[in-house]
Amino acid sequence: MVRALLARWKKWRSSLRLLQPAHVDPGRAKISIAQLGHRYANKVVALHDVNLNVRTGEFVCLLGPSGCGKSTLLFALAGHVEPTGGTVSIDGKRIHGPGPDRLLMFQEAALFPWLTVRGNITFALAARGIPRDERRARADTFIRRVQLTGFEDSLPHQLSGGMKMRASLARALAVDPAVLLMDEPFGSLDAQTRVHMQELLQSIWMRTAKTIVFVTHDVQEALMLGTRVVLMAPRPGRVVRDLEVHLPMPRSMEDARLTEMARHVRRLLRHFEVPDSEHPTPPPRRALPARGLLRPSPLPSR
Ligand SMILES: Nc1ncnc2c1ncn2[C@@H]1O[C@H](COP(=O)(O)OP(=O)(O)OP(=O)(O)O)[C@@H](O)[C@H]1O
Ligand SMILES: [Mg+2]
Repeated sequence: MVRALLARWKKWRSSLRLLQPAHVDPGRAKISIAQLGHRYANKVVALHDVNLNVRTGEFVCLLGPSGCGKSTLLFALAGHVEPTGGTVSIDGKRIHGPGPDRLLMFQEAALFPWLTVRGNITFALAARGIPRDERRARADTFIRRVQLTGFEDSLPHQLSGGMKMRASLARALAVDPAVLLMDEPFGSLDAQTRVHMQELLQSIWMRTAKTIVFVTHDVQEALMLGTRVVLMAPRPGRVVRDLEVHLPMPRSMEDARLTEMARHVRRLLRHFEVPDSEHPTPPPRRALPARGLLRPSPLPSR
């Protein structure tokens, strides 16, 4: 019994060593978010004092419960929301509004229904000024990469949900933005298709090392995909942990270390979701590793 507990504790501790606090020098960051705050017109404080630096080629997952400001943060990055405080910079340049260096993808594939899969991609390439004779070959390269070969001439209504999402991903990759922003892109897919899309996105990221900021409220998904997982909490929306995931890729959902990390991350999220007044005391220090900086610190005053 004791031996079993000790073995479990050792497994748990080694899994958590794979989660380490991220430290990124703002001067070397591709994306730099400083003291970002956003208050909507209805006075809801969606974001409060968010500081986040993302290196080129990182896959950063923003993770947190509904209403913690994940989408607002992503929209601020995309330039669709003008934050009421703080700054967002890309390559040292402050952003004001959308730009061709960023592309935002949602749950809906947002394909033009009257254009074929290839047509949707070549249209986007034309809009980015890619010469006509390059468009078709480039579209077909990315159609192949998302495993849609044979469906180049299909219209969106002839595709399944997962295939539409793959077409949308092919279009996003073909236009080659410096930063890809994804807001719960697989949220509406069934479980099996979702796992397939996660594996596909991971393999594409491993090939291209594109800088990706990916929003999800699915802990397993964040740990499966992210080189970093940024935990957010609501009321006000804020970053409470920024952790690097040192689990080699490709990863598998079945990996026991991933399951163990997910358990820990869920515990952290629960801890930060509870309002101050109802906070259990003491915070779950016992359940945290002896080394590393994963202990919850006191909640910021509001
Ligand atoms: N256009 C808006 N006007 C007013 N309040 C808004 C608006 N958009 C979002 N909010 C509020 O801001 C807060 C953060 O919303 P946001 O959509 O960023 O959360 P989220 O983490 O993406 O949630 P979800 O996981 O449900 O998508 C919420 O309290 C929400 O009600
Ligand atoms: Mg959202």
